[in-house]
Amino acid sequence: MGARGTVGRAHRAAAACLYPGAWAVDATVGNGHDTLFLAREVGPLGRVDGVDSQAAALSAARRRLEAAGALDPVRLHHGGHEHLLGLLPEGARGRVRAILFNLGFLPGGDKAVITRTGTTLAALEAGAALLAPGGRIVLVAYPGHPGGAEECEAVMHWAGSRRPEGMALLELDPPDQGKAAPRLLVLESRPGT
Ligand SMILES: C[S@@+](CC[C@H](N)C(=O)[O-])C[C@H]1O[C@@H](n2cnc3c(N)ncnc32)[C@H](O)[C@@H]1O
Repeated sequence: MGARGTVGRAHRAAAACLYPGAWAVDATVGNGHDTLFLAREVGPLGRVDGVDSQAAALSAARRRLEAAGALDPVRLHHGGHEHLLGLLPEGARGRVRAILFNLGFLPGGDKAVITRTGTTLAALEAGAALLAPGGRIVLVAYPGHPGGAEECEAVMHWAGSRRPEGMALLELDPPDQGKAAPRLLVLESRPGT
């Protein structure tokens, strides 16, 4: 399945735990397509915190959200998602319904600026601390670009055997034969399990 199909599956997995008024996080804002999707799901009474390490990405995303009239629920943060807990208000802990990660490089931007294994894993650990019961981490990883395969393997290994307690594994795509297809990961917070 191509990137578009996998991102569509990611959106459906996130939508399943969102509702008007909910709190969502986009951990890799990029050009803002995913942030716009989240903003529409939670509506004007909800909240979306979006994080990206590139200012150019945040500018593009802001323009997209403004043009769509969907900026109201969105707070954009310039920084690394590995600092998610510091970028979001203290009150976010235990209240976020969905956190979306769309890894790799900014389409149309500098392909050398990519998400990296160490910071991605730190962000996933931080994200788990933010989730409400029933909340989900939804991630799309791309093994096809330089550095992507290593990151993808590390994330899938973390999800399979090193994820925090109380996180249930809902979906984890196996590698395809060509090993370049995007892979979806969905985790759900189930405290006490
Ligand atoms: C594939 S793009 C995201 C696509 C985006 N969600 C969209 O809808 O257009 C990946 C993004 O991750 C960002 N990124 C890379 N390292 C990051 C980090 N440590 N923290 C936050 N964002 C990072 C890049 O700047 C890039 O914009």
